[in-house]
Amino acid sequence: MSNEDAASASSEKWRAPPVGYEPQDPARYDPAIGLIGCGGITVEHLTAYRAAGYRVVALCDVNWEAARKRQQEFYPDAKIYEDPQDVLERDDVEVVDIATHPDVRPELVAAALSAGKHVLSQKPFVLDLDVGRQLADLAERQGVALAVNQNGRWAPHFSYVRRLVAEGWLGKILAVHTGVHWDHSWVAGTEFEKVKHLILFDFAIHWFDMLTCLMGDEVPRGVYATTSRSPQQKIAPHLLAQAQVEYDEAQASLVFDGSVTNGGHDSTFVAGTLGTFRSLGADLNQQTATVTIGENSASPQLKGRWFPDGFHGTMGELLCAIEQGREPSHNARNNLRSLELCFAAVASAESGQPVVPGTVSRMPTT
Ligand SMILES: NC(=O)c1ccc[n+]([C@@H]2O[C@H](COP(=O)([O-])OP(=O)(O)OC[C@H]3O[C@@H](n4cnc5c(N)ncnc54)[C@H](O)[C@@H]3O)[C@@H](O)[C@H]2O)c1
Repeated sequence: MSNEDAASASSEKWRAPPVGYEPQDPARYDPAIGLIGCGGITVEHLTAYRAAGYRVVALCDVNWEAARKRQQEFYPDAKIYEDPQDVLERDDVEVVDIATHPDVRPELVAAALSAGKHVLSQKPFVLDLDVGRQLADLAERQGVALAVNQNGRWAPHFSYVRRLVAEGWLGKILAVHTGVHWDHSWVAGTEFEKVKHLILFDFAIHWFDMLTCLMGDEVPRGVYATTSRSPQQKIAPHLLAQAQVEYDEAQASLVFDGSVTNGGHDSTFVAGTLGTFRSLGADLNQQTATVTIGENSASPQLKGRWFPDGFHGTMGELLCAIEQGREPSHNARNNLRSLELCFAAVASAESGQPVVPGTVSRMPTT
């Protein structure tokens, strides 16, 4: 998009660019899907899949009751399993959604790929980039797709700005600043309470991934991150975290105030050489976006919410990619760049020094 094109987009009532940001469904491909791991987040997976008409035929959890609960709530005709291998042995199941925590997930992903299944892995994808590369290699050898459930990419405001940037409407990106100010204390008593870098790793991976998408081929020069306890937090992981990322010709800041118990707020600002995008709201599901290009400004009425529509986006993109015989955009190898940035931020928070992304291949600590 040149300056002239942007100016010619001007009219009396200027409209925000109509980029295609909504989740896509395959034209005809309608595979049987198995879900392994039926924990808390799978309410969002299954709400989205049921609304999209996807066919979930198998629900598996080592805790039978968890699988049974999801069956009763969403797919009464699905079969329940306690052993993932039993799902993988079903010839009719072509796509497997694996939604366990990352410590036990790589083994399950490898078994599913070895059984010839296409896989959607929950995030954070892996704790070790080498393991991630091995899984991507295995998928390639098996001729199946391996995608990562970075559902934030299909949150309406993130999906919109991602497409806006990809189509060149904002020009070359020079600044990305995000602020999430919310209460994350709900994790008390769950597995998440045991994750030392809960915010910078488990939560912020969506923002490291978005930043990586927005910056395209630009390579980050360094990241500096810190974490702190909040005066009112009762759980061990620090709920306050921030990261600054430097590029040759751009900068980014990602702020996570996970201990805001009154008056939450969520903001995104992206500036390029031709225009800006900003989105604001009380939380990440309620957002009002504004695009400014040259002298024109408009607020596109974006449909949907991150939860559950983001989960429609990730499964939809995987199914479309399988149908069209291409790599899904959220493929495993693509995800490793986001993890490089995330691991470097965690290493920086541990050492107190800036770190070059790519130099830390394992999560420094879990
Ligand atoms: N926006 C998001 O994408 C989002 C939000 C929340 C959580 N998550 C991610 O989803 C994953 C799971 O989170 P959760 O909140 O559902 O956790 P959870 O603890 O509620 O559920 C995990 C489930 O996995 C089951 N499980 C463990 N090992 C298993 C195995 N070998 N086979 C089958 N089932 C097994 C457990 O019994 C449990 O029911 C985490 O990686 C988390 O980071 C993503």
